[in-house]
Amino acid sequence: MAQGDIHKVAVLGAGTMGNGIAHVFARAGFPVILRDVEQRFLDRAMDTIAKNLDREIKKGKVPESERAAVLGRVLPATDLGAIAAADFCVEAVPESAELKTRVLKEADAVLRPGVILATNTSSISITQLAAATSRPERFVGMHFMNPVPVMTLVEVIRGLATTDETFQATLALCERLGKKPVAVNDSPGFVSNRVLMPLINEAIFTVMEGVATPEAVDAVMKTGMNHPMGPLELADFIGLDVCLDILEVLYKGFGDPRYRACPLLRKYVAAGWLGRKSGRGFYQYHQNDAQDGKGK
Ligand SMILES: NC(=O)c1ccc[n+]([C@@H]2O[C@H](COP(=O)([O-])OP(=O)(O)OC[C@H]3O[C@@H](n4cnc5c(N)ncnc54)[C@H](O)[C@@H]3O)[C@@H](O)[C@H]2O)c1
Repeated sequence: MAQGDIHKVAVLGAGTMGNGIAHVFARAGFPVILRDVEQRFLDRAMDTIAKNLDREIKKGKVPESERAAVLGRVLPATDLGAIAAADFCVEAVPESAELKTRVLKEADAVLRPGVILATNTSSISITQLAAATSRPERFVGMHFMNPVPVMTLVEVIRGLATTDETFQATLALCERLGKKPVAVNDSPGFVSNRVLMPLINEAIFTVMEGVATPEAVDAVMKTGMNHPMGPLELADFIGLDVCLDILEVLYKGFGDPRYRACPLLRKYVAAGWLGRKSGRGFYQYHQNDAQDGKGK
């Protein structure tokens, strides 16, 4: 489906990323069918979208007069059949190849044949997920960053069978959302995580080996390299379990020891020290700052 024919979109999964993706589409004028498996997840997502929209209104990014219209464009649904009306679909369910394969097959059976199906996976092969559908040529990676309404990058990933038309339509769609799309080919970790995760992993090795404290490592990268967040602060924000999972994907995908996860990272994850979301990682957090901050 050409970019100009995309009017209505579907988003599968209303979690951290799904509600952010629905938010940016609705803000750009697209009606969005937001699908999750239970009503309470949709209610929570609508709540989050309203709160984030209010923040944007306060900052003057969105006129107050548009509030009701933006919110009205998000159409929550538990019934999968509702996505049949979509001209473009983005999947944002949890990062499990098995779950994503099942959800993508179900969506593939409901969506019209010409509709592009995109996945927001952070690490699973686009080519592999595409092969589970009947439309690998109209399948693409659309890797939004968290928090979606704030971060401008979208890594647009081309699977082996993705056509030029699909790829160009997806890049153009990102521009309509006010995002900065970057074209990337399918490879473990794409560009973002392939470059970021070894940096985080090496930072963890320096802590494990007693080279420096987490605070010192982050201070070097922030004040010396001009990074807005130190690598350990960022790892805590992303989630140490997520970092470990992505390193495993890189290690398995390339078969190269340079991607082996640091034993200290494994130890923290085993202890349940997962970063901000669990209250403890390389730093300790209070309940009310668990959701704050910025990140990948
Ligand atoms: N969180 C991040 O920082 C981040 C950044 C970039 C990419 N991603 C990727 O985005 C995807 C989603 O991550 P998230 O952090 O939003 O996860 P999340 O757990 O916050 O949300 C996932 C949502 O999907 C729903 N879901 C489960 N099965 C479903 C189904 N069959 N149909 C519809 N919805 C279903 C869940 O109920 C949940 O609400 C993952 O692939 C992840 O790797 C995450």
